[in-house]
Amino acid sequence: MNLNESSCHGVVVITGAGQGIGRGLALAFAESGATAVGLADLNLDKVRAVAKDIEALGVKALPMQADVSVEADCARLMQSVKDAFGRIDVAVCNAGIMQIKPMMDLTGADWDRMMGVNVKGCFLTLQAAVRVMKQQAPVAPGRPRGKVITMASIAGRYGAGPIADVILHYRASKAAVINMTQGAAIALAPDVTVNAICPGLVDTDMWKQMDRDWAALQGLPTGEVWKQRTASVPMGRPQHPKDVANVALFLSSPAADYMTGQSLNIDGGLVLN
Ligand SMILES: NC(=O)c1ccc[n+]([C@@H]2O[C@H](COP(=O)([O-])OP(=O)(O)OC[C@H]3O[C@@H](n4cnc5c(N)ncnc54)[C@H](O)[C@@H]3O)[C@@H](O)[C@H]2O)c1
Repeated sequence: MNLNESSCHGVVVITGAGQGIGRGLALAFAESGATAVGLADLNLDKVRAVAKDIEALGVKALPMQADVSVEADCARLMQSVKDAFGRIDVAVCNAGIMQIKPMMDLTGADWDRMMGVNVKGCFLTLQAAVRVMKQQAPVAPGRPRGKVITMASIAGRYGAGPIADVILHYRASKAAVINMTQGAAIALAPDVTVNAICPGLVDTDMWKQMDRDWAALQGLPTGEVWKQRTASVPMGRPQHPKDVANVALFLSSPAADYMTGQSLNIDGGLVLN
């Protein structure tokens, strides 16, 4: 593979871009040749701050408040990015939520909220982005018109067992994202590729919340769950947003133009399949 092929990503849109993996993705795309980055999050102040970091790199940015579980927000987001930058080459459906709660305590409302953001939100973002992508010519002959990357998780894989009891609905939501990615890939080929990334234990606020809530359930000190879980990573360290971003850069590059419907684990070797 010519690694230079991974240095041209056109216009990129990322949801959940205010912090954590989404922020890491945004900076990595800006550092790797993106011409413009659309940044969406519930928290407008946070995406405005990320936009400033991106503009400091000489790349255009459009920060927007959007709730991915609201259809009109997804449509407005994608139309605004198209109006500002002319097209959408890559859409990363990254926004997601987590909740630690034992299975028998879960309520219907917990279930609906999890599925509303992680599954419906991912779908609505994907669909709104593809509506724009389908109207545009490929950046070069023979290339897809656009690329979608969904953010699943190793939690959606068989084998991610130790945390099953306390995040059952999260696991189900990420398994749904993997399955939806496959269906969308078939529905949209050859115009748009759709692939999922399955991160492992990424050092973000989401895991800080998990550690705190899970440790409280078990009567452990804060930090202990994270310490125990990351001790079992074969690659010997926790994951950083940059590790996830590297896979996103590959998937959005010409080097991955023939890849669609796949779900790639990037987890330091925790789950093998
Ligand atoms: N951190 C991990 O270890 C890990 C592992 C596997 C998968 N993931 C997935 O990666 C993605 C990002 O995770 P993270 O660790 O960066 O989480 P995070 O909680 O640190 O950041 C998530 C961001 O998404 C935003 N968001 C939440 N709900 C939203 C909504 N309805 N609309 C728009 N934005 C919304 C939040 O405001 C926040 O800025 C999620 O889909 C998560 O499930 C994370």
